[in-house]
Amino acid sequence: MAEIVYGFGSSHGPLLSTAPEKWDLRAQADMENPAHPFRGEFYNYEELKELRKDENLGAQNQLSVREGRHARNQKHMDALAEKVAEVDPDIIVVVGDDQHEWFQDDIQPTFTVFHGDEVINTALDQEKVKTMQPGLAISMRANHPDVDHAYPVPSALSRAIIEQAIEDEFDIATSSEHPTNEKGLIGVGHAVGFIYRRILHDKPVPVVPILLNTFFPPNQPTPRRCYKFGQSIGRAIQGWNGDKKVAICASGGISHFVIDEDFDNRMLKAMIERDEDAIFNEPNAMFRSGTSETKNWITVAGILSQTSLEMDLLDYVPCYRTEAGTGNAMAFATWT
Ligand SMILES: [Fe+2]
Repeated sequence: MAEIVYGFGSSHGPLLSTAPEKWDLRAQADMENPAHPFRGEFYNYEELKELRKDENLGAQNQLSVREGRHARNQKHMDALAEKVAEVDPDIIVVVGDDQHEWFQDDIQPTFTVFHGDEVINTALDQEKVKTMQPGLAISMRANHPDVDHAYPVPSALSRAIIEQAIEDEFDIATSSEHPTNEKGLIGVGHAVGFIYRRILHDKPVPVVPILLNTFFPPNQPTPRRCYKFGQSIGRAIQGWNGDKKVAICASGGISHFVIDEDFDNRMLKAMIERDEDAIFNEPNAMFRSGTSETKNWITVAGILSQTSLEMDLLDYVPCYRTEAGTGNAMAFATWT
């Protein structure tokens, strides 16, 4: 039987790949954004700054603070990469979100399991990079290789996950081919590409990509649904007759692009303590924009709840880029 031997979570946002002195590259966009979601409401930049003025967040946006936090991020991603190499799993199940990469507004599935034979992380699209804002182009470079890389997909495990999901009354979407556009095949999205590049260092470990629609209304799954879907995935892996060591990965999060340390601490604590009520009772309206990627973690916490592996938070690193509290709070964790 297959065995879940390890779990890990890593944020994947652009700031991880951006030198601290360049974190301002996205600050201008923050200032122009008329509707930052924060604690269930929406604010423009000036309103957000006023709302949070007592938190003295400007002090956390000094270059020296940024440098310390950037160094912590790099240290923990390096540690995760080393640990995954040491565990040497036969398969990694990566739970991420699709952010208008494979799916557009014409069809937006809530949960998708990929069951083709291989998945491609496409080479960096130099033309596209030229059209992107500098702060986002940096992340494109971080997530894509110089030439197309193909990774095997253990499609038998994908199908076991799909069959268990249907059995458990999750009417999920499935995909066995990359979608295409006028340039050809669309490679796997940032949530999986980042893990290939930064954690696996392009080693072709077989991966099952599981994609959530965390971002786009109106059909984002609730935290409860994500956790329960995770439990179904966990049962599927443990019931699968492939004799493989399986690792689980949560990609993305935590709060961004408005950092909310209270929310992050509450959710991370709930996952560590397996406090299902705290997860289920968190209002769906808290999970908007990038913060919604916390649902990738909740799904993974659901998978790991089927095992005796314990979550250990390696670090929580709030990376502020403006005094209004915008930026990206990073988290790095293992389940061992
Ligand atoms: Fe993301």
